[in-house]
Amino acid sequence: MRIAVVGGGYVGLVSGACLATLGWDVTVIESNADRYRALCEGRIPIYEPGLAELVLANRESGRLVFADRIHGSVSGADAVFLAVGTPSRRGDGHADLTYVFSAADDVAHALTSSTILVTKSTVPVGTGRRLERRMRELRPDLAIAVASNPEFLREGSAIGDFMQPDRVVIGASSTSARAILEQIYEPLARKGIPIWITGLESAELIKYAANSFLAMKIAFINEIADLCEKTGADIAEVSHGMGLDQRIGARFLSPGPGFGGSCFPKDTQALARIAQEAGAPSRLVETVVAVNDARKASMAGRILAICGGSVRGKKVAVLGLTFKPETDDMRDAPSISIVHRLVAEGASVNAYDPEGVDQARPLLPSNVVYADSATAAISDADIVVLVTEWKEFSAINASELAARMRGNVVVDFRNVLDGGALKAAGLIYYAIGRTMPPAASEVWHPFGRHRLVALA
Ligand code: UDX
Repeated sequence: MRIAVVGGGYVGLVSGACLATLGWDVTVIESNADRYRALCEGRIPIYEPGLAELVLANRESGRLVFADRIHGSVSGADAVFLAVGTPSRRGDGHADLTYVFSAADDVAHALTSSTILVTKSTVPVGTGRRLERRMRELRPDLAIAVASNPEFLREGSAIGDFMQPDRVVIGASSTSARAILEQIYEPLARKGIPIWITGLESAELIKYAANSFLAMKIAFINEIADLCEKTGADIAEVSHGMGLDQRIGARFLSPGPGFGGSCFPKDTQALARIAQEAGAPSRLVETVVAVNDARKASMAGRILAICGGSVRGKKVAVLGLTFKPETDDMRDAPSISIVHRLVAEGASVNAYDPEGVDQARPLLPSNVVYADSATAAISDADIVVLVTEWKEFSAINASELAARMRGNVVVDFRNVLDGGALKAAGLIYYAIGRTMPPAASEVWHPFGRHRLVALA
């Protein structure tokens, strides 16, 4: 089976390398010259655990090759996957399909035989039908069937998510498209992975509905966390008790500063728009978008509240900038609004992130200092704020933290630090979804250190 994948970005590169691992001959087409050159030189332009090794292994086996243009790269392909970006359109939140249709047109012009055109990118319901009409218009001489095969990869675990998915979703309106895609995913079916075959529109909507539901689950647990802070409940215990219900499930019930990334924010906005325009508005999804945006904007205010209303002149160590661990992606990361607000309130920010600094620098105020380790960021800090739960942060020793800091406030927006040990080390510890520590008041420590004491 010969497969072409248009788009060598996050989805295209992971999908292409994994399809080659399944045993197919894959050409990944990347039109951006710098990215194409990097790929040809064996450099992976994105941070994704295991991807560099997988790409290298498949290139060495000859199953994976790169091209820099569609023309000449799709002829003879049994399937052409579109894995180009569908960013939120400026201003109205709709998915911008410019790249999808431009790539589809280029594919149509470049084809020399019939094939199937598969949307891997997340596209609004109805896009597949539009592409079918477009293909008939441009190439009435060929049979170009259109199918939808949405991906459910999470950044940081993308390869595992592709090779061991909960399910593969295929939306096809022709038996030829269905047969080819079933053959492509047969190696996964052999491992017992459910292959769900449905219609074009259903497959397109499954992607948006699944992402929006997961986003709603996160927004929900974040609101319950706020209620815990007011009622003396503990969000970790509430979440655990909820998750034991098989109908709810324990995953995606961890509270945080709000969801970010390249998908949840974009897909919830797009689904809200799609539903509005289809005459079936989803107030739930609209509310998820609003609640999440408000939460991200409010997180810095919690830091101020804990510090008695002001961080002016304080040195704040921010641990973690990316929207989640095991990625370098800063898209819609909660850290962006947190750091901007802290700087606007007069704090000086020392930030550390294992992978995200290069992506973060252009998005954050120019006076942010970037430390090369958590220890360096923490040194002499008055306040430590954990925003992204990179594994290394959970291993921070409480006594060492207390000794290195100048102040004594630790804010944990992911509830991954050992609050008991931190309090035992004399620190004021705030975690999400637990009773807030009393607002601290600023006093000069007898030994001249800037310590905050919790008011009774
Ligand atoms: C998501 C979907 O999970 C994936 O199926 C889809 O293909 C792409 O979008 P991704 O955005 O890469 O994947 O990461 P994910 O792990 O889903 O996290 C998304 C956001 O939700 C992150 O900001 C994360 O911090 C947050 N999150 C996740 C929570 O706040 N709590 C949770 O329990 C889980």
